[in-house]
Amino acid sequence: MNRWQNLWRYIPLFGLMLLLSGCGNDTMSALRPRGPVARDQMFLMELSLGIMVLVTIVVFAIYIYVLVRFRKKKGDKDIIPKQVEGSHVLEIIWTVVPIILLLILAVPTVTYTVKLAENHVGNKDAIHVKVTAHQFWWQFEYPELGIATAQDLVIPKGKRIAFEITSSDVLHSFWVPSLAGKQDTNPGMTNILYFEADDAAVFMGKCAELCGASHALMDFKVVSKTEADFTKWVDKMKAPSVVAASDTGAKNGEQIFKDNCLACHAVSPQGLGVGPNLNGFAAREMIAGVKTRGEMNDQNLHEWISNPQSVKPGNKMPAFGPTGGKPLQEQQINDVIKYLNTLK
Ligand code: CUA
Repeated sequence: MNRWQNLWRYIPLFGLMLLLSGCGNDTMSALRPRGPVARDQMFLMELSLGIMVLVTIVVFAIYIYVLVRFRKKKGDKDIIPKQVEGSHVLEIIWTVVPIILLLILAVPTVTYTVKLAENHVGNKDAIHVKVTAHQFWWQFEYPELGIATAQDLVIPKGKRIAFEITSSDVLHSFWVPSLAGKQDTNPGMTNILYFEADDAAVFMGKCAELCGASHALMDFKVVSKTEADFTKWVDKMKAPSVVAASDTGAKNGEQIFKDNCLACHAVSPQGLGVGPNLNGFAAREMIAGVKTRGEMNDQNLHEWISNPQSVKPGNKMPAFGPTGGKPLQEQQINDVIKYLNTLK
């Protein structure tokens, strides 16, 4: 087999690569911006990519032209073509053209960099959210609204969200590809970021900095709602959840929760703890944010409470299953699940 035949064998592989590059999540792609910040960043990507492609095409075109034009043909004598060293015209062209290209690239890049670094915390028209990253979950506080939540960042569409971002333990990175570029979360330091969502939808968020065993499972959601639905959500979060006395299972579960879980998990509008605040828990998109095994249902909740390590290795929640450190009886776990389901 000659060299070319060898190369042909790789063509299906290239085809597969192209095919796979088409796979993805519509709500988690920087290439499908769903808000103004992501659109500005997409414009910068397109601009720089466009200039790069243009330069590559021009350079290759000249290269191929020279290869063909000055090739030694049969019968050609040993002649040396006209030499261009020191040509003023050429020197000026290849100095001025890159300068122009760099200016076209630099002016919007600097402009957008300054614009996207603006601090909107304290801006009356923006919603202020404090983000704290934990191994391996996300805490969201809304200081002006007097509420705190975890895992699902609920926002109103079409409104600027001004973030203050930090970490409680190691380095993480806050990233919602559809809405904005990533921002690092550093312990002892506060970074800022802002974004806005065009429409009411659920966007995927990711931790984008290797932070431990469950880094890949450190997901969250941005739940963008209409202004009216957002106000409703805030009101619900502020109203204390009450378990009906007639619901004996849930009532029993509430007591078990108080005895075993409340030390880490607050269930109140503003409560913060070692673990996520579970106020409004049953309305969340996922359990522990884990995409593959986190669908909000009793079976997954049972597995999470019994053996959280099997779902999200390295997380700090102790196992409450029969083989765990603080075992609960099967019936007790089911009652806790009944109680958690009342937290809407
Ligand atoms: Cu947190 Cu990776």
